[in-house]
Order: sequence, then C-alpha cells, then structure tokens
Amino acid sequence: MDAAACLDVLALDQPPAAWVDAAHRLLAELVRGGAALGWVDPPSHEEVALLLTDVAAQVQAGDAALRVAVLEGRLVGLGYWTRYARPTHRPHADLEKVAVDPAAQGRGVGRALVSALVADARAADIEVLTLDARGDNANALHLYRNLGFTEYGRLPDFVAVGERRYDKVFCMLDLRRS
Ligand SMILES: CC(C)(COP(=O)(O)OP(=O)(O)OC[C@H]1O[C@@H](n2cnc3c(N)ncnc32)[C@H](O)[C@@H]1OP(=O)(O)O)[C@@H](O)C(=O)NCCC(=O)NCCS
Repeated sequence: MDAAACLDVLALDQPPAAWVDAAHRLLAELVRGGAALGWVDPPSHEEVALLLTDVAAQVQAGDAALRVAVLEGRLVGLGYWTRYARPTHRPHADLEKVAVDPAAQGRGVGRALVSALVADARAADIEVLTLDARGDNANALHLYRNLGFTEYGRLPDFVAVGERRYDKVFCMLDLRRS
C-alpha cells in the first residue's frame, strides 16, 4: 500500500512528550533489530529525550531541522539535520537518524522524510548536506542515491558492532549545484 496519501511529514521545533516517547520506542526497536543508527545497544528513553531536546534547541536557533512522519495519528518515522559547529563548516549540515517504523517501511515514508529535510536545508540556505551510512545498509543507500546524494568516500571496516566491522560510507548532496 502507498502510505503517501495519508502521511503527514511535520516540521517540529519542540517535540511533544508523547512523540518523544514514540521516538524512543521507534529508535530502540530499530536498534534492537540491528538497524545501523549509531547505537550498538538500544538507546534509553533519557538518551533519546536529551538528543531531541538538543536538536530542538538547534532548530529554534535556525541551525537544524527536525521532521516526524505521522501516519493515521501515529509517529512512524523521524529524521533531522544539524548545521556543522566548526566555524569553517557553518554553511553545511549533516543528516542523521533517519528512521522508519519497520511496519511502515518500503511505503515511501523514508523518501518523504528525507525529501522534506532536503527542502528544509535548501530553505535554510545550507550549501552541502552530508550523511554517513553503514556499508551494508542497502535500503538507506538506495534511498539517498535516488534522492541525489553521491558517495564521496568510505572508511573500510570502520564501524564496529561487536567483532563485526562494516564500511562507513560518506555521502553528500551539494545544494548549490542541484
Ligand atoms: C532506510 C529507511 C529509513 C528507509 O525508509 P523506508 O520508508 O523504508 O523507505 P521508502 O519506502 O521511502 O523507500 C525508499 C527507497 O528504498 C527502497 N526500499 C526501502 N525499503 C526497502 C526494502 N525493504 N527492500 C528493498 N527496497 C527498499 C524503496 O524501494 C525505495 O526505492 P525507490 O525510491 O526506488 O522506490 C528504513 O529502512 C529504516 O528506517 N531503516 C533502519 C534505520 C536506518 O538504517 N536508517 C538510515 C541510517 S543511515
């Protein structure tokens, strides 16, 4: 089924408590299932709440965008970008934690989220939007490539999950040229 018709992708500057709870459940479930989101173990509620509070503060300062995907009133996805802190990197931002509920995957939610975040970056005059992904994350890499991101490098066998090692793949979208 195509979710696009009844999907809302909302920009947030202060996530309500109920959505912080839902975001925690979503991220913890994905990481428990092995998703490549930067955590080895599922994040605690406190960790997710602190992360979203930090991102929300950056949104309010004009240095980030946070989007949630809502399907039939339920939070089924999220993602954000934050502007680089380093003074020489300030025109650019990094996309992180794009995550879609496993039950809603493959229905266009990820595409809608990332497209909205790219539009937000354009509206904020971000010049280059970067991201990194684990080399085996075929669905994510497929999605990013389809939206115009190109790979600009990789660190072989860099991401450590227990004894396993995966490439870290760096991608970029140059909004000055696209
Ligand atoms: C990566 C992720 C965000 C994609 O979200 P999604 O809602 O499933 O993606 P979409 O339905 O919008 O699909 C986007 C593209 O990926 C493809 N895709 C998505 N899931 C797929 C699957 N299970 N099998 C094959 N292709 C898939 C779709 O076919 C689509 O391709 P198209 O544009 O050519 O039609 C989602 O799989 C996810 O949350 N994964 C776990 C967390 C994660 O890895 N995040 C990224 C960190 S870098």
